[in-house]
Amino acid sequence: MRAIVIEDKQLLWTEVPDPEPGHGEVVIDVTAAAVNRADLLQRQGHYPPPPGAPVYPGLECSGVVSAVGPGVDGHHVGERVCALLAGGGYAERVVVPAGQLLPVPTGLSLVEAAALPEVACTVWSNTVSHDRLRAGETLLVHGGGSGIGTFAVQLGKALGATVLVTARSAKHERLRALGADLTIDYQTHDFVRSVHETTGGRGVDVVLDIIGATYLARNIEALAPGGRISVIGFQGGTRAELDLGALMAKRGTISSTSLRARPVPEKARIVAGVRDQVWPLVAAGVVKPVIHTTFPLAEAAAAQELMASSDHLGKILLLR
Ligand SMILES: NC(=O)c1ccc[n+]([C@@H]2O[C@H](COP(=O)([O-])OP(=O)(O)OC[C@H]3O[C@@H](n4cnc5c(N)ncnc54)[C@H](OP(=O)(O)O)[C@@H]3O)[C@@H](O)[C@H]2O)c1
Repeated sequence: MRAIVIEDKQLLWTEVPDPEPGHGEVVIDVTAAAVNRADLLQRQGHYPPPPGAPVYPGLECSGVVSAVGPGVDGHHVGERVCALLAGGGYAERVVVPAGQLLPVPTGLSLVEAAALPEVACTVWSNTVSHDRLRAGETLLVHGGGSGIGTFAVQLGKALGATVLVTARSAKHERLRALGADLTIDYQTHDFVRSVHETTGGRGVDVVLDIIGATYLARNIEALAPGGRISVIGFQGGTRAELDLGALMAKRGTISSTSLRARPVPEKARIVAGVRDQVWPLVAAGVVKPVIHTTFPLAEAAAAQELMASSDHLGKILLLR
């Protein structure tokens, strides 16, 4: 098969050995894969795949099952699926633990389904499963125009929350169309002030943060009593001073997770939660994939260049 191989930080579309399914695994003939910001880090040598995972980039895909390994129940060759991957989506075929397969949601094409597994599993596991966002609460999403953000806005609204986002102003209109109640231009406005003006000084109940260090203190300032912060990205660095007094005064909680590094059984539990709680919302059209554009798989470098520019809104897909 052919795959995108990283060599000297360049992406090469080249011939590689076909994957074989091990115990509990299936092989997918890839129809579409999505680009994630983490793929750019992997290319720079900062985000290696976990041991045993395919070495090629690509954290999610859709396609058709072409081989089923021993010990797999309930899946068959020819089945149309999408999947959360630990790597290998930028390829013609990829091997994946069966617990990370999801059905193509009702009403979506096989291509559209590639836009959902990574964002759905990341947002659901942090904001819903861990932070317990409830109807009537307020959610602050940093980077509302990211793949993660466009999904989080829709899921937050579907759960009955008020959703505030930070993003560059060019993205505001489309984010409001997705359901955002307030869009904050982080380049011209202090988001803490905007949050307090909008919430009557109370603050937000849950923060989904992709920025990290440079937003830590301000995220705590923006928090309502009993608020929860999930840090899932470090675009603003990893090291910052934490004022425990400020956190205690809010009775606040900060957590941080990386989906890719989680053990396979944990990923299977997250995927099952997404199938049960999120896929019905997708089937009902309440949560939709937001696809900015597509590129041929062989042109993954151009797709990554677009992502690096941050001029996209939502997901960038690679088509076989
Ligand atoms: N921990 C996990 O398990 C996990 C899983 C998936 C993704 N992530 C992380 O989630 C983040 C988003 O991933 P993605 O693939 O969805 O990326 P993406 O589509 O490339 O989005 C990144 C966005 O960050 C925004 N941004 C940059 N600086 C900002 C700032 N100071 N304040 C607010 N927004 C800012 C940019 O939007 P503007 O144009 O508005 O600046 C850009 O669109 C990445 O950091 C990624 O590593 C973590």
